[in-house]
Amino acid sequence: MVNTLSDFPADRFAIYAVCDCGQMPRPVAPARPKCCVSVLTFAANDYGADNTQAVTAIHYLCDRLTREYPVFDTSNFTVEKKEAVPLFPTFVWNMQLKRKDYEVINEKIRNKLKELTADKPALEPGKKWQTDQELHKLEEFQELTGLIYNATKDVLDFLKVVYDDFEITGCWANISAIRNGHIHHTHPNNYLSGVYYVQADKGANTISFDDPRPQTYIIKPAVTELSAENTRSAVITVEEGTLVMFPAWLQHSVQPNMSDRERISIAFNIMFTSFSEKMSKPQWQADLAFK
Ligand SMILES: [Fe+2]
Repeated sequence: MVNTLSDFPADRFAIYAVCDCGQMPRPVAPARPKCCVSVLTFAANDYGADNTQAVTAIHYLCDRLTREYPVFDTSNFTVEKKEAVPLFPTFVWNMQLKRKDYEVINEKIRNKLKELTADKPALEPGKKWQTDQELHKLEEFQELTGLIYNATKDVLDFLKVVYDDFEITGCWANISAIRNGHIHHTHPNNYLSGVYYVQADKGANTISFDDPRPQTYIIKPAVTELSAENTRSAVITVEEGTLVMFPAWLQHSVQPNMSDRERISIAFNIMFTSFSEKMSKPQWQADLAFK
């Protein structure tokens, strides 16, 4: 039986490594391989009928070569620069207004919502009301509308987006009783979405965003600490006067309201006004122009 590399009867077998790098198979026994061995095949000139011994030897070599001969040995290298480059990051823009400002906005919103719910029975636990989607056209919402427009300009500038104009395509209030949450969803047919918080006590003060790369969970090792770089769902903490904006395609959800009061938030969507008229046209020059 073959138990060690030196036991391997190299004089009788020729071992070839087929490498991940795609190089042609080459002999690796007893020579040191230059890349990780994924498959070992062998050609035996004379192994007789003892196939068991040959298979054992291959399994042993595959294990040992993979562990003892990594792809590159960098232990003697001096690293001049090392960095983790965040490619294709997904942003959530989070803004907190000062109390003196959000109190003005929120008082008007609360008064309008009281008016809209005046003839309604008390909201039952687990239930929610949503208003019409054109709150941004109401006088009482003009301060919030102005805040949303300015925040949107900042986001578009941050992303260096070229555009003519944008508009709020929908803006509605969510009044959530205790134990009411909102399942995972996106806001289709818009570029940006956002939420402004009028009332979000502790226990009702989070919004969760899901990693938009489902393939990353195929391999999910344990981690020493959860972070935005290794978690599947990121939680943003909000409070009264918080404005959160995010790509409309980014899936999100809201945990059930575990506070003692209703959660009141104003959700909105943003889209480019001239999207089909101008922005969706091809952005390249034709070689053959119409005559
Ligand atoms: Fe949403």
